[in-house]
Amino acid sequence: MKKAFITGITGQDGAYLAQLLLEKGYEVHGGVRRISQPETTRLDILGIADDVQLHEFDLTEQNNIFRVVRDIEMDEFYNLAAQSFVGASWELPIYTADVDGMAVVRILDTLRSVRPDARFYQASTSEMFGLVQEVPQSETTRLYPRSPYGVAKVYGHYITMNYRESFGMHASSGILFNHESPLRGKEFVTRKITLGLAALARGGDAPVELGNMDAKRDWGFAGDYVDGMWRMLQQDTADDYVLATGTTTTIRDFFTYAAEEMGMDLDWQGDGEAETATDRKTGKLVMRVNPKFYRPAEVDLLIGDASKARDGLGWVPQVDVKELARMMARSDYDAAKS
Ligand code: NAP
Ligand code: GDD
Repeated sequence: MKKAFITGITGQDGAYLAQLLLEKGYEVHGGVRRISQPETTRLDILGIADDVQLHEFDLTEQNNIFRVVRDIEMDEFYNLAAQSFVGASWELPIYTADVDGMAVVRILDTLRSVRPDARFYQASTSEMFGLVQEVPQSETTRLYPRSPYGVAKVYGHYITMNYRESFGMHASSGILFNHESPLRGKEFVTRKITLGLAALARGGDAPVELGNMDAKRDWGFAGDYVDGMWRMLQQDTADDYVLATGTTTTIRDFFTYAAEEMGMDLDWQGDGEAETATDRKTGKLVMRVNPKFYRPAEVDLLIGDASKARDGLGWVPQVDVKELARMMARSDYDAAKS
C-alpha cells in the first residue's frame, strides 16, 4: 500500500485528492494547521474524514515539517497548502511569500535530507502567467506575475525545478488553471456567484456585488485536476505540466450560465462601475459592480494549452465551464433549501 501525504488536505483540492487516493488504495495522511475550532467540512461532505490520518502541520514551521517527513515515511508528497486567495495577497504580501514561496524550499530541503526518493508535487498556478506573454499559455510561456501571490508561486515553481535538476529528485510542478467545484472557497468569484444567486433564487433580495466583469478565466472542475496531479507523480521522470480546459470565459458569462440554472433571464445594462444585471422574470436586481472588488493589478486573460498533459499523461478534462456553473449553482441552490 502506497502512502501519501497531502498538505492542505482540508482545502478544496486536498479533499478531492484524498478521495481519489483512497479510491486507489493509498494510505492517506494530511496536514492540518492548528486553529481554535478544528475544521474538516470538505472531508466530511465527501464522507472521508474518518478514512484519512490527520497531523498537525504548518508550512511556516521548519521542524514541524521535518518531523512529519521523518515519521510518516510517505512515498508521495503533495504540497497543496497555500494562502491561495490572490485578492488577499496585497494585504498579506510577506505572509504569502513565506507560505507560498519559502515553505516550498522548506519541504524540498527536508525531503532531500530525509526522504530523497519520495515523489513531490508542487501546486503551481496559471496566476504566474499574469500579464500574459503568449496566448494560449503553456509550460514554455514566459512568466509575468501580477500579484504578490503570483510572485511567491513563481519562487515555489522554480525551486521545484531547481531541486529536480540539482539533486535528481522526483519533483513535479503542476501549472494549474482555475478549477472550481461545490467545495470551492466562498470568496472566489465562481462560488461567490453561485452562493449569491442561490440566495436570490430562494427569495433573497441582496444583489451579488462583483468587481471586474471582463476578466477571463480558463475554468475546469477540481475533481478532474486532482487526477492530473496524481498522474504526474506516476511518471518515470518528473516534469512540469499545464492542466487547463483550453476554453476561456468572462466573469459575466459564468454569471449568466449559473443564473440560467436558477431559471433566471438576465437583462445586462451599463458598463464598468455602472454595469448591472436584472432578472426579467422577477424584476430583481441580481448583480451590481462594487469597485472595492477591483484589484491593484489584474490578470485579464487566462487560457491554457494542456497538450503536453494530454499526450504525456493521458489527461483530458471531463467537465466544461457550462456544466461546472450548473453543478455549482445546483449544489448551492439545493443547500439553500434548508
Ligand atoms: P484552498 O481551498 O484555499 O486550500 C488551501 C489549504 O492550505 C487549506 O487546507 C488551508 O488550511 C491550507 N493552509 C493555508 N495556510 C497554511 C499553513 N500556513 N500551513 C498549513 N496549511 C495551510 O486552495 P485550493 O483551491 O484547494 O488550492 C490548492 C493549491 O493549489 C493551493 O496551493 C493553490 O494556491 C493552488 N492552485 C489552486 C488553483 C485553483 O484554481 N483552485 C489553481 C492553481 C493553483 P485551512 O483549511 O486551515 O485554511
Ligand atoms: N474573488 C473575486 N471576487 N474575484 C472577482 C470578483 C469578486 O467579487 N469580481 C470580479 N472578480 C475577478 C477577479 O478580479 C479575477 O480577475 C477573477 O474574477 C477570478 O478571481 P478569483 O475567483 O478570486 O480567482 P483568481 O483567478 O484570482 O485565483 C484563483 O485561480 C488561480 C489560478 O489562476 C485561485 O484559485 C488561485 O489560488 C489560483 O492560483
